[in-house]
Amino acid sequence: MARLEIRDVNKSYGPQHVLRDAGLTFAEGELVTLLGPSGCGKTTLLRIIAGLETADSGAVMLDGADISAMAPNRRNMGMVFQAYSLFPNMTAAENVAFGLKVRRTEGRRRAARVDDLMELVGLGAFRHKYPHQLSGGQQQRVALARALAISPSLLLLDEPLSALDARVRVQLRDEIRRIQQETGVTTIFVTHDQEEALSVSDRVAVMNHGRIDQFDTPQAIYQRPATAFVAGFIGISSRLEGHVAEGGVVLGSEVLPAPPDHGMTTGTQVTIYLRPEDVRLSPMVEGGRRGTVRAQTFMGAQTRVSVALPGGAEIHADLATPEAGALLPGTEVAVDWNMDRARILPRDRTAA
Ligand SMILES: Nc1ncnc2c1ncn2[C@@H]1O[C@H](COP(=O)(O)OP(=O)(O)OP(=O)(O)O)[C@@H](O)[C@H]1O
Ligand SMILES: [Mg+2]
Repeated sequence: MARLEIRDVNKSYGPQHVLRDAGLTFAEGELVTLLGPSGCGKTTLLRIIAGLETADSGAVMLDGADISAMAPNRRNMGMVFQAYSLFPNMTAAENVAFGLKVRRTEGRRRAARVDDLMELVGLGAFRHKYPHQLSGGQQQRVALARALAISPSLLLLDEPLSALDARVRVQLRDEIRRIQQETGVTTIFVTHDQEEALSVSDRVAVMNHGRIDQFDTPQAIYQRPATAFVAGFIGISSRLEGHVAEGGVVLGSEVLPAPPDHGMTTGTQVTIYLRPEDVRLSPMVEGGRRGTVRAQTFMGAQTRVSVALPGGAEIHADLATPEAGALLPGTEVAVDWNMDRARILPRDRTAA
């Protein structure tokens, strides 16, 4: 087990500033996800941790020691990449044994370790198959076993599931989490898929243009996004534009209650973010907040109903599909939500 700390890492490629004061401290044995859109710097940060790339400034600390200048092969880290990266001319077992051979682990101990790992990843019966005889998911399991073989102090996974189909993805994702918990290895998991990040992680670091916008538990990231970028990136949110006034937030002709500790001065332009599960639609009543159903998106057990408010804003509600049946486009409904579950953030003019 290991304690990793990334201190204010900066990295540029030519004029492009790819990492900006990226800092993270990991607890021993936890699984942290780096989550962010394509190009935000996830792989670059992972490669700096692995020693495959050098930071322009800042440091990578492992158990209190600065390892920024240490060669990759001395860092004792296991890595799994997005693309299948097994040695094609070696069997699954030979692939897993590779790192142990390099380290001159004695033959019988090596064979026993390989057996254990092939069992751990559920491929006991596939030890003598070559990569081309294995499915994508099986190949990634072998890659995982190979990364774990050396008992790494840190496991680095760069979008290991992105080439797999949806069902295998979910299966292997759950299995990675089980194996990580069984082995207790501190793990950094890179993904641009928010559902994946929320489901496997102890904590999630959301990256935005090379910065860490928020580093917190999946629940906190989902319920209390720290920035407009995080609120927009995690889950489908409805956005309503308003401004802070005495006693709350002004939205059109209403004043909505805001938490007393919001800390924003009167007049601040804000966006109110609402999760689709927190929006309620009911038959139109006198005095209710009126909206008109614009569209329905069938998602299986739930249906997302999109409603236009009089000011033109669109709001989304997820309803159990039978309840959504009567809410055809054009229907007038009363729209309500619990302000306690809304997130109010200063408007970010740079966010999309
Ligand atoms: N060796 C390099 N030379 C020049 N530019 C690079 C290099 N590596 C990465 N970049 C640039 O740095 C930025 C961040 O790249 P990075 O691979 O870290 O993104 P990412 O978050 O992993 O994206 P993805 O989700 O697509 O894998 C990108 O704009 C990329 O083009
Ligand atoms: Mg990448």
